[in-house]
Amino acid sequence: MIENTRLPEHIAIIMDGNGRWAKTRGLQRIRGHIEGIKSVREITQECARKHIKQLTLYAFSYENWKRPKTEVNFLMKLLKRYLIRERKEIQENNIRLTTIGRVSELPKSVQKELAIGIEESKHNTGMILCLALNYGGRTEIIDAAKRLAEDTKNANVDLDKIDEDTFRQYLYMPEMSDPDLLIRTGGEMRISNFLLWEVSYSELYVTPVCWPDFRKEQLEEALKEYAQRERRFGGIKG
Ligand code: IPE
Ligand code: IPE
Ligand code: MG
Repeated sequence: MIENTRLPEHIAIIMDGNGRWAKTRGLQRIRGHIEGIKSVREITQECARKHIKQLTLYAFSYENWKRPKTEVNFLMKLLKRYLIRERKEIQENNIRLTTIGRVSELPKSVQKELAIGIEESKHNTGMILCLALNYGGRTEIIDAAKRLAEDTKNANVDLDKIDEDTFRQYLYMPEMSDPDLLIRTGGEMRISNFLLWEVSYSELYVTPVCWPDFRKEQLEEALKEYAQRERRFGGIKG
């Protein structure tokens, strides 16, 4: 067990492979999503216990609307149920719930439960649990660019002074630090439009393990590997 030895402050996870998990067991895809919720619960608890500052979970992408309506509807139903059922757990673990993505395009009933969860936990001082919902990295950058352009037009921002810090202020969650570790389950070697701006210098960890099988032990493996990485941020070995 590694405790507190070079732990990442911010972990982001692309929770992939639910469908494949189900398929290999001869089950319907939705069973994979149901089982995946158990991993969400366990990984959240474990990260909170380890005093990780932020855990960002890619739960539904801007592109996931392309899936069959029945699957999208099921995912929304599951999300709503999760938001209701997890409330107690979130409070007990002193977790602050937040979200990134075009939340206003989610079903109203999901928005309602999300708003309750965020409001209820807003004074909690422990880990930040950020759910990426209807999230796309490119839409985040476009949404930011539009608002920045608006502010520039209205002379609230000086065009010549725009730098990375200025731009960051227009992202969905300006106060969040960049992820130190980006985990992808399910084995695909791609980013799938997740946190494009924020992952510039994140350490990548891809595991073939499908999300429903990614539990405490698998997280431990990822953290062990992270602890051995040398981060240089473009500099040279210190
Ligand atoms: C990830 O699992 C969950 C979501 C994208 C909501 P998938 O549903 O993408 O599972 P695979 O990749 O098809 O196995
Ligand atoms: C990424 O997984 C999105 C989430 C985990 C929510 P996808 O399954 O949508 O990604 P692709 O289609 O394999 O790139
Ligand atoms: Mg997938």
